[in-house]
Amino acid sequence: MPSNSSLPLADVLAPLWAVASAPLVVSVPAALALLALLTWAYLYPRRRAALSASMANLPGPDRTSPVFGNWRDFLDKASDDGTDSSLPLEWTEKWPTGRLHGFFGTHIFYSTDPAALSCILQNDTVFQKPSRLLNLLGILVGGQGLIVLEGDAHRRPRKAMNPTFGPPAIRELVPLFYDKAFELRDKFASFFDPANDGVALARRAEGDDKVVVGGRRKVDVQKFLAEFALDIIGTAGFNHDTAALNDSPSEFTDAWRAMQDALGQKEKRELAQLFAMMPVLEKLPVEAQVKMTAYNDAAVKVGRRLVENKKAALEAAAASGDAKGELGRDLVSLLLKSNLSSKPSEQMSTDEIVDQIRTFLFAGAETTAVAMSGRGQPELRHANGLTYLEYFVREILRIHSPVSNTIRKTVADVVVPLSKPVTGRDGTLVESVVLRKGTTVFIPIASVNVDKKIWGPDASVFNPDRHATEPTVKTPGIYANLLTFIGGPRNCIGYRFSIAEIKVVLFVLLRSFSFETLPQRPEQRRMPSYSYGQGLPLVPEMPLLVRVLE
Ligand code: HEM
Repeated sequence: MPSNSSLPLADVLAPLWAVASAPLVVSVPAALALLALLTWAYLYPRRRAALSASMANLPGPDRTSPVFGNWRDFLDKASDDGTDSSLPLEWTEKWPTGRLHGFFGTHIFYSTDPAALSCILQNDTVFQKPSRLLNLLGILVGGQGLIVLEGDAHRRPRKAMNPTFGPPAIRELVPLFYDKAFELRDKFASFFDPANDGVALARRAEGDDKVVVGGRRKVDVQKFLAEFALDIIGTAGFNHDTAALNDSPSEFTDAWRAMQDALGQKEKRELAQLFAMMPVLEKLPVEAQVKMTAYNDAAVKVGRRLVENKKAALEAAAASGDAKGELGRDLVSLLLKSNLSSKPSEQMSTDEIVDQIRTFLFAGAETTAVAMSGRGQPELRHANGLTYLEYFVREILRIHSPVSNTIRKTVADVVVPLSKPVTGRDGTLVESVVLRKGTTVFIPIASVNVDKKIWGPDASVFNPDRHATEPTVKTPGIYANLLTFIGGPRNCIGYRFSIAEIKVVLFVLLRSFSFETLPQRPEQRRMPSYSYGQGLPLVPEMPLLVRVLE
């Protein structure tokens, strides 16, 4: 990502906030006043019930708004040094575990303490996604997408899908990643080929200065990485050529782009937070909602067609005595094959599989695109040894986590242990915190990734070499001690997929091009961060000077 950024997944939701924040045609002040009153009344009993003595004693920032609590103090803010953190670093350094003020006098628990994080992430029975988040996610991925299921309903499909994302399956996909990476390389190369109209080719992604100067030209690399990531999910995810990179006509890809553009217009984030509490508002026929419906219709149509064709091919193969059938190496084909070997009662239905396709698109395309555009482009040229490449990718994902935070809600009372006690408001030590049922828990992914207690005093510095030594403080993160893909039973199932994809694209591009930051304007704009309440950033862009290597 650009030098200072982060993107929508947990309240990932970001694209979804955008829907809620689109312009309204009703009287905004009247609607807001009514909404505020209803919300205050709705939350009143929770405010009273949700505070245990230990939670009440937790330190934290003062409330700066009676309506928004502390939300406005940290949303949209990157730390001053350009690294990403989901909470201001001065807060997490002063209060590693603390209490934030939420909307209308509610309270939010947060922690960067590894023992607390481990308790939260490992215990998915008690710490679940709040219904508000599930509603928002469900709009884009359907009601049966892995990411919106909880409890037993989640465990069965997760178990069925785990092998689909295991190391052998991902190895099989690597040739597909290379094919697409070569396509991307050829696209960049065409900008320098006098036989092509490079200006026209690049027009969609660039500003005015498209000329080649000193062998270099400006390219909005982010746009092309986003198209690459979408094509990868299409081909490797479900064997459908979304054709974003080669600009072939595609009903699906057009709907995807229109939705992304509409969601990218999101400006009124605080309003969106209020609307998110009342899902009924998402039904308003605002522009973003209309585009999202069009995209959903296209995704369901394509998904159904694919699944039904593959099922028919499998049945035909079985009828002709070919027990395996040759469907393809993509994730959905693997899922369908493993489905066949499950008990009928455990098999996934067509609709369930279609929702997984929608989930892969939502959870896997933009996140990986954002990661690939991670900061530190000038240093990319050094990423030429495979070990260094591994460290380099880890460092991108550490400094710039595409999903900067997520949230949970407790569905029962629970005691959260702390590895280091914190000093409470009354001066006593708090060694563990009792969270009452219904407490909102904020998981500051990006802040943990740049925590000095884990990564040392230079935690904010981009330094791939740090990964040569294992950190002594362990987090529950599934990958490289990072919280980027979280950990526990709800970790990101696609993390190996993403890492392989990022490595392949870096490996291919860095052998053909150098990428330099612009000597002067325009500044790289902050990239989107899928984060609770933050939403999609406006228009992500990452103009760089690209030069063909001899
Ligand atoms: C750099 C890229 C990626 C990042 C940073 C990322 C991050 C995350 C995070 C933080 C979560 C947990 C969200 C929560 O529970 O609140 C998650 C879940 C998930 N991700 Fe990813 N993701 C990435 C790429 C992918 C890809 C490529 C796929 C699929 C092809 C994918 C599929 C999923 C799914 C299905 C879940 C839900 C898992 C479950 O709840 O069991 N992700 N991801």
